Formats: sequence, structure tokens, C-alpha cells
Amino acid sequence: MQMPYRGSRFYKQTDEKVKITKSLVFRIVHYFKPYWKQMAVIFFTILLTSVLGIIPSILTKSIIDTALPKGNEKLLAEDIILSFVTSLSLSLISVGQSYLNTFVSKNIIRDIRGSMYKHLQNMSLDFYSNVQAGEISSRINNDIGGIESVFSNTFIQILQGIFVFTTTAATLFYTNWQLAIISLLTLPLFLAPTKKVGKTRWAIATETQGKLAELTTIITETLNVSGTMLIKLFTMEKEKCKEFDKVNEEVTRLQIRENVVGRWFFMTIQTFVSIGPMLIYLFGGIILIKYHTLTIGGIVMFVSLVGRLYGPINTFSNIHVDIVRSMALFERIFQYFDLKSDIVEKKDAQELEQIKGEIKFENINFSYKEKVETLKNVSFEIKPGQMAAFVGPSGAGKTTITYLVPRLYDAKDGIIKIDDINIKDLSLHSLRSKIGMVTQDTFLFNSSIRENLLFACPNATEEQMIEACKTANIHDFIASLAEGYDSVVGDRGIKLSGGEKQRISIARTLLKNPKIVIFDEATSALDSNSEVLIQKAVEPLLKSRTSLVIAHRLSTIMSADVIFVVKNGEIVERGTHLELLKVNGIYRDLYDKQFKGMEK
Ligand SMILES: Nc1ncnc2c1ncn2[C@@H]1O[C@H](COP(=O)(O)OP(=O)(O)O)[C@@H](O)[C@H]1O
Ligand SMILES: [Mg+2]
Repeated sequence: MQMPYRGSRFYKQTDEKVKITKSLVFRIVHYFKPYWKQMAVIFFTILLTSVLGIIPSILTKSIIDTALPKGNEKLLAEDIILSFVTSLSLSLISVGQSYLNTFVSKNIIRDIRGSMYKHLQNMSLDFYSNVQAGEISSRINNDIGGIESVFSNTFIQILQGIFVFTTTAATLFYTNWQLAIISLLTLPLFLAPTKKVGKTRWAIATETQGKLAELTTIITETLNVSGTMLIKLFTMEKEKCKEFDKVNEEVTRLQIRENVVGRWFFMTIQTFVSIGPMLIYLFGGIILIKYHTLTIGGIVMFVSLVGRLYGPINTFSNIHVDIVRSMALFERIFQYFDLKSDIVEKKDAQELEQIKGEIKFENINFSYKEKVETLKNVSFEIKPGQMAAFVGPSGAGKTTITYLVPRLYDAKDGIIKIDDINIKDLSLHSLRSKIGMVTQDTFLFNSSIRENLLFACPNATEEQMIEACKTANIHDFIASLAEGYDSVVGDRGIKLSGGEKQRISIARTLLKNPKIVIFDEATSALDSNSEVLIQKAVEPLLKSRTSLVIAHRLSTIMSADVIFVVKNGEIVERGTHLELLKVNGIYRDLYDKQFKGMEK
């Protein structure tokens, strides 16, 4: 199984190290900016909790050194109450802080997710033809979702680490600088193991991420109507399960390993944590016995405070890994934001209210892939209201020609004009709103027929909708369904036949009421009944509109004002049916082979 993204020209692979540049940091900061107030409060609470966290230890010292030896009951009670109040405030503040953390991180995720969706809406067809199934959802869910941990595990932990460390270390030094130095010296003991563990964990986590993406790809590709149909027809269930099992197995193996490394890591920490206090009792004891510069309460306070240093040290030792990981996450997200659509609107694009519907292709060259020329020097003109039929063998480039009109793709060179205006000078909205397209296989959203129809024109009234369906010869069918217009069509409209779907598509286009219509006749043999129904449905759609029809049926061709014969990406013949028959060329050939039999 191919890794998602790999080989896609839209994706830069980042196996190499992430460079932390100023612009990358600025870009990240940009997303946090709207929440600076909440972040300022978080900052303040972290500062507050790091200071408050020290107080119970100081109170303990006061209890041991003063209240207990002097039998001062009042002080003892005061210390205990104060200690309790501090602990309670700490808990309350941390609840508020975690609320704020969640608020900020979830909101940033919402912002990025929203702008990503908007950005991807503008990506061209070319992009969607090249991405792997599941790639986009994996990016939106996993990568953008991962920001939460960047915020709470990296950003907050680093801040907390810095504050807790400085306040605690300052208190230690203030109490007894000799013992403070000794305590700090014990810390590097477990710097080494944590660092190594952090690295190993990260390596495993990265690998897991990749395998999880593979799993997502398999799931999205196979668990849908089209995928499952293919698998059933080729009886590939066992193979697919095997493939899935393999990746599933690997994911599990990696996840277990990641966890086991974690356990080992905690065990190491645990061991050192238990050694730490003993060292402090040892050295603190020596200082107390020999120099009397330390009290018993002081030693106890040291032991409890040194424990506060382990967390920050752990954070600091992984700081590099954490930062790089977070940057990598953001970089992956930004990579997607940086994808440029091939189809862009000019800054001063023209809005066109009304059009007559004249279409001109002037020396159009086009290729999907480099080196393969799909359209070569295509020129033609269709007068307003005319019907142009495109005929020719499969793969000749007929559909491609029609794709260029609404700018689903842009020509490599040459100019396409509508009413003598270069379509690139028009806004995409004003261009596309004038064009209706009935494609060969109709795509419908998995919702009700009504919603699918109103997609073309959300403001249409019930009457207009029914009118369109009557014209498209589909109303009676819809009315015969138990739930009528509220019937849900299934994934991609799977619950409807090809003919029904195409007639719904025609009704949808009628509702849009465009000036230019593109109709790609289904090549698949429909039964003669639904063929007649479609024929009848299309007539009113083409009437009084400029139309480009990719025709596979004689009756369609016969009613065309002009016929273009396409072969190998070129228009090789043009004219009316009778004119072309006289030429005795490719059209004649096509007619004899393909169309003649259709005559009654
Ligand atoms: N998205 C695409 N990427 C690469 N090649 C494509 C794509 N779509 C179509 N083609 C190729 O372009 C050529 C013309 O296709 P098309 O316009 O669909 O032909 P027709 O509609 O005349 O049958 C074919 O060789 C086809 O394989
Ligand atoms: Mg085609």
C-alpha cells in the first residue's frame, strides 16, 4: 500500500528535519493572536500556581521547626489551615486553567479546520483527481486535531516548567544554597535516560502516525458503495482483509511498543525519584550535624520541593523533541494551506449579469499531464442559442473540451471567450453560474431528492421545483416513491437508476436556468424507455440555450446546428449532418459504423 501523499505532486515530503524559521513561528503565532486575552490569563494562573505550590512546603517547615518544638498550638492550626486553603485554591485555579486551555485549543482547532475547509473548496479538480482517498480527512482530523496536544502538552508544559523550576529553585537557594546546589546536581542523573526515551518514543509515534494514515486510506477506499461493490464482484474480501490485518497488526505492534517504552521510562523516573530524597537526607543531614546552618524542617522542605523539579526537568529534556514535533505538525498543516489552486480568479475579475451565450475556442491546447497533449489547437465558435454536437471515438477529448468552459481546468494556451470576453477575465462565480452541466454519471449527495434539487437554486419554490421535474420527466417517478421528494438517494445516488439520476440532474440544471448547457450523453446503453424519457427531458433544457452536447445518439446529432468531430484531441471535421456526410471522411465512417443502425 502506498503511503498517502507520496508521489502526489501536491505534497512535499518532510522526512528531513523541520527548520524552525521565524516565518513559521510568526505563522503559528497568528492563529493564537485572537485568544491573547485568555492566554494572558493562563500565563498569570501558571505563574500563580507555581508560587502557591511552594507554600505548603514552607508551612511544613514552620510546623516542624517552630510550631511543634515550641508547642505553639495557634501557629500549628494557622499553618494547617493556610496549607489547606492554598491547596484548595490551587485546585480551583487549575480547574479554571484547564477550562481556559481547552477553550483556547479547541477554538484554534475550529479556526484552522474552518479555514482549511474553505481553502480546500477552492482547490481545483486536478487536486482532487490526485489526492489519495482519506488523505484529506486524515489531515483535517489527525493533523489539525493534534494541535490540541501541542497547546496543552507542549506550550503549557514548557511555561509551567519554566515557572515551577525558577520559583522552586529560588526558594531552595534562599533556604540553603549549599544543599540547593547539591540537589540540583542530582537532577542530571535522570536527564540522560529521559532524553533517550523521548527520542525513541517520538520515532515510534511518527511511524504509528504513518501506519494509522494507511489504515484510514484503506477504510475510506474500501468501505463505501463503489469500493465494496468492486471487492464483492472480484471476490477480493479475503485479500482486502489480509491487507487490512497487516496494517492493523503493525499499528498495534507500534502502539504497544510506544506504551512499553513509556512504562520503562516511568520506572526509571520512579527509581530516581526515590533515590533523590535519600541523597538530600544524606547531604542535608551532614550540613545540619556539622554546620548547623539547616533545620530539620528545612531538610523536609527540601525533600518535598526537590520533587517539584523532576517535572520541569523532564519537560526540558524533551523540549527539543516536543518543539520539533509541534513545528512538524504545523508545517504539515501549512503545506496544505500553501497549495495553490490551478484555477485562480483575476483580482479585477469582471462580474457579468447577463450573457447572450456565444462561445469561442481560439487555438486551445491542453494537457492533463506533461508531455501528453490531450487537446491540440482546438478552435470553434458556437453562436448564441445554437446547439453544437461533439462526436468522436472514446478518449478523443470531448469531455475535456467541455471541462474547459466552466474552467474546471484551464487551457495551457489559447483563449476561450464567452460573448467575446476571455473567460479568465470573468469572476468564477459569474462564469459558472451561467453554465449548467449534466455529466455522464450524475453525482448526488446522500440526502433527499429535494435537497439535491435545491442545491442548484436554494431559493426555488416548491412549484418551481415540481415544474422542473415535470419538464425533466422525473416528477411522476418521484411522486411514486413512498416518501416522494423527501426520499433519500443513498451514497452517490446509488438507490436510483442511471436514467433516473440523469433526469434528476437535468431537473437540477433546469432549476439553475443557465444560459449555456453542457450535456454529456450517457454512453452506457440505457433501455429504450429511459432513453426516450431522457431525450424528452433534454429537449426543453437545450431549447433557447447555447449548448455543447457530447452525442452518442443519432437523434441528438441530427438536431444539432453544428457538429464537431473530435479525434485524438483535434477537431478534424465540422459542419451539419448533411454537409459532413458529403465530405465522405471520418464522420461518414463513424455514421456508417455507429449511427446508421439507429435509424428506424
Ligand atoms: N484527470 C485526468 N488526468 C489525466 N488524463 C485524463 C484525465 N481525464 C481524462 N484524461 C485523458 O484524456 C483523454 C481525453 O479524455 P476525455 O476528454 O474524457 O475523452 P472523451 O470524452 O472524448 O471520451 C483520454 O486519453 C483520457 O485518458
Ligand atoms: Mg467523455
